[in-house]
Amino acid sequence: MTGRFITFEGGEGAGKSTQIDRLRARLENLSQRVLVTREPGGSPKAERIRSFLLQGGAKAFGPLAEAVLFSAARLDHLDQTIKPALATGTHVLCDRFADSMRAYQGTVGKVDLKTISALERVVLDGTEPDLTLILDVPTEVGLARARRRREAMGEGADRFEAEEAAFHDALRRAFLDIAVSAPHRCVVINAGADEDKVEQAIWDALHDRLPALTRPPEIAADVA
Ligand code: TYD
Repeated sequence: MTGRFITFEGGEGAGKSTQIDRLRARLENLSQRVLVTREPGGSPKAERIRSFLLQGGAKAFGPLAEAVLFSAARLDHLDQTIKPALATGTHVLCDRFADSMRAYQGTVGKVDLKTISALERVVLDGTEPDLTLILDVPTEVGLARARRRREAMGEGADRFEAEEAAFHDALRRAFLDIAVSAPHRCVVINAGADEDKVEQAIWDALHDRLPALTRPPEIAADVA
C-alpha cells in the first residue's frame, strides 16, 4: 500500500502551517501514518540549500538559477524523504512543492514556463501530488497575517516577504491559474475564512478526492 502525496500551496500568510497541523491531527486520529515536510528543505541536504536561498544568497544569480537551486533541493527531498515515506504507506503532507517554483520563479520571476516544465519533468520524473490544496486569501489578508507572524517571532522580513503587494497579487493569480490548468489534482480553498472553516473545507476536499483517507481504517481497508 502506498501513501498519498498531498501538497499545500499559496502565497505568504495563507495559513498553510496551521492547516497542515490540523490535517495531520485528523488523519492520525483515524490511525493513518502521516509525515509532515516542507520545501525548500525537508531533508538534511535540501535544508542547507534552503538556508542559502532564504537568506537571499541566490538572488544575485537571478530567477533561473534560483529555480535550479530549488530543483536541486527538491530532488534530494524526493529521494531522501518523500518517496521512501510513500513507499511504506505513510501519507506525506508537504508545505509547498513544485507549484511554488512555477508561481514564484516562473510566472512572477519570469523564467520561461517551458523551462520550468522541463525542470519539473527532470526532477519529478513522474511523481505528482495526489492532491494539491491551494490556500487562497485576498492579498491584504495574507500580507497582514504574514506581518503579524513575523512580528510575533521578532523577525524582520525575509528575502521573499519583503516584496510588495503587486507581487502578492501576481502570485495569487499564478496559483489560481495552476488550479485551472491541473483540475485533476488541485482544489482551491478559501483560506480567508476562520481556521475552523478552512479546516473543514480541506477535509471536504479530501473526502471528495481521496475518500479512503477520511474513513476509519477498517472501513478504508474493506473498500480499498
Ligand atoms: P517559507 O518561510 O517556508 O515561506 P512560507 O511560510 O510562505 O511557505 O519560505 C519559503 C519561500 O520560498 C516562500 O517565499 C516561497 C519560496 N519558494 C520559491 O520561490 N520556489 C519554490 O520552488 C519553493 C518551494 C518555495
